[in-house]
Amino acid sequence: MADKLIIFDTTLRDGEQSPGASMTREEKLRIARQLERLRVDVIEAGFAASSNGDFEAVKSIADAIKDSTVCSLARANDRDISRAADALRGANSARIHTFIATSALHMEKKLRMTPDEVYEQARLAVRFARNLCADIEFSPEDGYRSDVDFLCRVLEAVIDEGASTINLPDTVGYAVPELYGNFIRTLRERIPNSDKAIWSVHCHNDLGMAVANSLAGVKIGGARQVECTINGLGERAGNCALEEVVMAVRTRRDHFGLEVGIDTSQIVPASRLVSQTTGFVVQPNKAVVGANAFAHASGIHQDGVLKARDTYEIMRAEDVGWSANKIVLGKLSGRNAFKQRLQELGIELGSEAEVNAAFARFKDLADRKSEIFDEDIIALVADESVTAEQEHFRLLALSQHSEMGERPHARVAFAAGDEEFHAESDGNGPVDASLKAIESKVQSGAEMLLYSVNAITSGSTESQGEVTVRLQHGGRVVNGVGADPDIVVASAKAYLAALNKLHQKGERVAAQG
Ligand code: KIV
Ligand code: ZN
Repeated sequence: MADKLIIFDTTLRDGEQSPGASMTREEKLRIARQLERLRVDVIEAGFAASSNGDFEAVKSIADAIKDSTVCSLARANDRDISRAADALRGANSARIHTFIATSALHMEKKLRMTPDEVYEQARLAVRFARNLCADIEFSPEDGYRSDVDFLCRVLEAVIDEGASTINLPDTVGYAVPELYGNFIRTLRERIPNSDKAIWSVHCHNDLGMAVANSLAGVKIGGARQVECTINGLGERAGNCALEEVVMAVRTRRDHFGLEVGIDTSQIVPASRLVSQTTGFVVQPNKAVVGANAFAHASGIHQDGVLKARDTYEIMRAEDVGWSANKIVLGKLSGRNAFKQRLQELGIELGSEAEVNAAFARFKDLADRKSEIFDEDIIALVADESVTAEQEHFRLLALSQHSEMGERPHARVAFAAGDEEFHAESDGNGPVDASLKAIESKVQSGAEMLLYSVNAITSGSTESQGEVTVRLQHGGRVVNGVGADPDIVVASAKAYLAALNKLHQKGERVAAQG
C-alpha cells in the first residue's frame, strides 16, 4: 500500500487573504461543501480570531462539514488559540494551526522578539493548544528563510509539546525546488523526534515555483502533507495550486509512489465555484483547469488524439471533471427538476425562500436563454442577490441607448433597502453610463480597481456574460460578480453586488434621493 499524501486546502484562509478575494460566510460555506465533495483531508476554514465574521465562518463550516478535518489558523497566543477552539467546537474532526515567525528578519523587525522569546512562545502556545484540541499543527512563519539550527530547536520543542503536523512555509516564495526539498530532509534528519510528526509543505508562488517546490518537498524531503488552494488563489502570485499537485502525483504515480484521496472529478467544479465566487478568472492556459487545458487546436495534434488519445494527452479531461457543456434544464423545467439539479451539483441553499428566489431567477433566465448549462446554474446561485436577506442594493430595471457616433445614455432603477431610486447618466459606453447612473445616487466614492467580462460557457454569443467589478474603499477591497445574457445588466448587477459587500462590511453606503 502506497503512502498517503494529505491534501490540506487553505483556499478559505490563505487564498482569501488575496486582495479582493474576501468571501461572505455563505460563500465560504458553499466552497467548504465543495471541498468536502472533493474529499480534501483538511479544510483550513479561516482565522477565527481575526474578526467576528471569520469566527462565524469557521464555526459554520465546523458545524456543517462531516468528512474533512476543519482547521482554524491561530497566532501563537492563548486568546487566538481559544477563539479557534471555540469556533471549532462543533467539528467532527478539528485541527488548530498555530504559527509564529522564526526568521531573524521577522523576529527582529516584525515581532521585536528575541529568538529565546519566540522559542518559549511557540512551546507554550502548542502546550496550550494541545489541551484544547487533539490535532495541532505548528508553522514557523518564514520558515524557509530561518536559521536551521534555531528551527531545529523550536521544532523539536513543539513536537515534544504535542504538535503532530509540522508545516514549513516558504512565506515569500523564495525557495527553489532542490533547495526546498533538501531543507525539509535536513530538518527531518536532524530533529531527534521528527518521526512523531507529519511534515508539511506550504509554498507561495512569487517565482512561479510553488507547485514544483511543494513536489520537491514531498519527493526529496519526505513531506506527507501539501498545503494548497484551488486555482492557486492567494496573496501576490498565489499559493500552490491544489489541482496541479494532485494531478501531478496522480499522473506520475510511477515517480511519487503516493496515494491521494481526492475525487478528481470534482476539481473543475471546485475551480469554477472559486472563480465565480471570488471573480478571479482562471487563465485559459492554466494547467488542468484552464479552458484550453485539454483543447487541441493544431491539426497534427487533433489527428493524433483522434487516432490514439494518449499521443498528446497525459490525463483525461473527464477525470478532472470537464464534461462537454451539458444542457441541463430549460424553460419548461419545474421547481423539482431545478432543486434536484442543485443537489446534483452539490449546491445547498439554506432556506426554501432562497430556493424560491433562485428558481425565480432561473425562470427569468430560461425565458431569455434557451439552453441552461450547469455553469449558468452555478452563476445563478453564486449571485449573492439570491440570498435576499443580505442584499441591500437590488437592480430593478435598466434601459440604455447606444448608437454609433452618439454618446450612450442609461436609465437605472434600483432598490436600496426599502427605498427605490431612479437614476440616469450618459457615459463613454452603455456600461459606463449605467454604473455612473447608480453611483450618482449611491455616492459610494469607491475606486474601481477592476472591471472584467467573461463568457460563462464558451463557444457562443448566447452565453451569459459574467462581469467582475472590484472596488476599493476605506482600505477595503471587494469583488462583485454579476451574470446575465445582457452584459450591461450583468455589469450593473456586479457593481451593486460589490456595493452590497462594502455595505455588509460596515461601510455606510447610503443612496441619496
Ligand atoms: O505563508 C505563511 O507563512 C502562512 C503561515 C501563516 C502558515 O500562510
Ligand atoms: Zn501562506
